[in-house]
Amino acid sequence: MSDQGCGIDIGGSGVKGAIVDLSDGSLVGERIRIDTPQPATPEAVASTVAEIVKQLGWEGAVGITLPAVVTGGVARTAANIDKSWIGTDAVALFKDALGGNSVVVLNDADAAGLAEDKYGAGKDAKGVVILLTFGTGIGSAVMTNGELVPNTEFGHLVVDGKEAEHRAASSIKERDELSYKDWAKEVSLVLTHIEDLMWPDLFVAGGGVSRKGDKWIHRLDNRTPVVPAALLNTAGIVGAAMAAERTSKGNDVE
Ligand code: BGC
Repeated sequence: MSDQGCGIDIGGSGVKGAIVDLSDGSLVGERIRIDTPQPATPEAVASTVAEIVKQLGWEGAVGITLPAVVTGGVARTAANIDKSWIGTDAVALFKDALGGNSVVVLNDADAAGLAEDKYGAGKDAKGVVILLTFGTGIGSAVMTNGELVPNTEFGHLVVDGKEAEHRAASSIKERDELSYKDWAKEVSLVLTHIEDLMWPDLFVAGGGVSRKGDKWIHRLDNRTPVVPAALLNTAGIVGAAMAAERTSKGNDVE
């Protein structure tokens, strides 16, 4: 089944997984979701991942996302997850929990970027595409011609004295009860800073708020076009499955 892959997306509230048809990025069968264990320690999350893979009946390579910088299979940061992830060899941990499947672990926004670039909002785009996910934090992925530059962390870019994700994550919109109009001002400020440094051709806006893109995207006043993500809640799963497939073909994402 070389045109299928398995992706697991680890988020703050849920761990979600599915088998993916890599010819078009659609899910094969149902998506399985289990609440993220609390505290979300590496061991607890690894058992949840193993449970999902078991329920999917999948025996091949598995791609897994983390909301963290991941280099050489090791989680390096933990902005919005349990701090005990820092320094954890995530590949070894998941491999062990799964009983030996080959495993690829990558940043959650990077996975979404791979998926949106290939099957979603960035599929016809030329040049440099930057995906930003607006959620509890802000995740970022930089893509060019189907290639990912992994582990960009634009959510932590300091913009006028404050980290981007502390200004414009959708959790801040909710916490401060900002209108779309006021929140869009913060998003514009963040996008302007990123585009001054990166000069992308397109921004793709992901995360739950991208479903309501018609309420705020037209209010943005930065210069680069912004389009809403197309895959919404499957992007992380699909990108994780793509990463696993690419690595098993010897074309590593790192
Ligand atoms: C983390 C990123 C992650 C993003 C979205 C940020 O706080 O630093 O690694 O991609 O949140 O989950």
